[in-house]
Amino acid sequence: MLEGTGHDASMRIAEFELERYFARWEFAVRHLLCASDVEGWAMGELLDHADDEAAALWHDLRLGYTETPGHPLLRREIASLYATATPDDVQVLSGAEEGILALVNVLVGPGDHVIVTWPGYQSLYEVARACGAEVTLHELREAAAWAIDIDVLRAQITPRTRLIVINAPHNPTGMLPDRPAFDAVVAIAAEAGAYLLVDEVYRYLEFDAADRLPAGVDSGSHVISLGVMSKSFAMAGLRIGWLASRDRALLARVSAFRDYTTICASAPSEILALIALRARDIVLGRSQALVARNVATLDALFERWPGALSWVRPRGGSIGFPRLRADLDIDAFAADLVEAEGVLLLPGTRFGHPGNHFRIGFGRTDLDEAVAGLERQLVRAER
Ligand SMILES: Cc1ncc(COP(=O)(O)O)c(C=O)c1O
Repeated sequence: MLEGTGHDASMRIAEFELERYFARWEFAVRHLLCASDVEGWAMGELLDHADDEAAALWHDLRLGYTETPGHPLLRREIASLYATATPDDVQVLSGAEEGILALVNVLVGPGDHVIVTWPGYQSLYEVARACGAEVTLHELREAAAWAIDIDVLRAQITPRTRLIVINAPHNPTGMLPDRPAFDAVVAIAAEAGAYLLVDEVYRYLEFDAADRLPAGVDSGSHVISLGVMSKSFAMAGLRIGWLASRDRALLARVSAFRDYTTICASAPSEILALIALRARDIVLGRSQALVARNVATLDALFERWPGALSWVRPRGGSIGFPRLRADLDIDAFAADLVEAEGVLLLPGTRFGHPGNHFRIGFGRTDLDEAVAGLERQLVRAER
């Protein structure tokens, strides 16, 4: 490590601040009040939902390598999530993270320009930087309810813009563009001759289903959807994600890139993902109910602490980005909270965000206990 720089000269990419933070704390605390995933399913409960075909696939599964594009039945199930995609438009990957790594590597390099919303999930812009592309961060501002600024986005386009990346519902703010804004982003990318990657890992967690946007893959051959089992489907441990795109040549290049990462997905995980997607009404219903219940709990929390906490209420997803009272330092507050109560928040500084914000997660079943600990800490901080 180069002292004081946070930069390890042996790495070709900057450290992933958020993941390093989770590596330190995730399994050391009692309550993760900043997790972005929904409480994971128990294996036995999931298997209870297998239909006869999937149950047989599970029982007879051979633990060899799997097909690099993904199990054909799984690709078919993923394609059925979309209005226009076919199984050939789907590349299964090991988590959304591998999708970001592979797609950005095959799409951009030195001389290319990439625009990414920020604050955001670091790999969405860091991988492009590591590939040698010039990255422009499109800043989302609290005063604008974290919305994408269409005029600013248009002005950020250059003749070299190769890729635009958005994430909706958004990590960490819970922002969800309205339909006109989404359509405008799709059109701006088309006019620029750029690809648009839509990170849809929180799709299906819109608080009002009427706000669900069309999927990226259904919005044009230049638009790519990124999906995963980790968030709305509540199965992060499967490490199954996917890219969906009507640009088959692009997907073929992603597949070839994968020869250098994971080669193929985990065989058991593919079958478990197939079972979950076939039972998606039940799987998503559980997540949506948990999120709705927890958001009501947080609404009450914000009402009880109007001077200390405020937020732009998310419109979807399982996370939000509230702000702590200005005279309390968020890093010190989070450190005291984890020490006293074993409750983990994620300070906005981990996103490189200068405000006094923190990420709060509302997809877990222990939210009530975690919120009680947070409130005890607020009382102590007021003294
Ligand atoms: C916006 C976003 N994209 C991608 C990912 C990566 O998902 P996974 O860990 O399932 O690969 C995450 C995880 O937090 C995320 O929040």
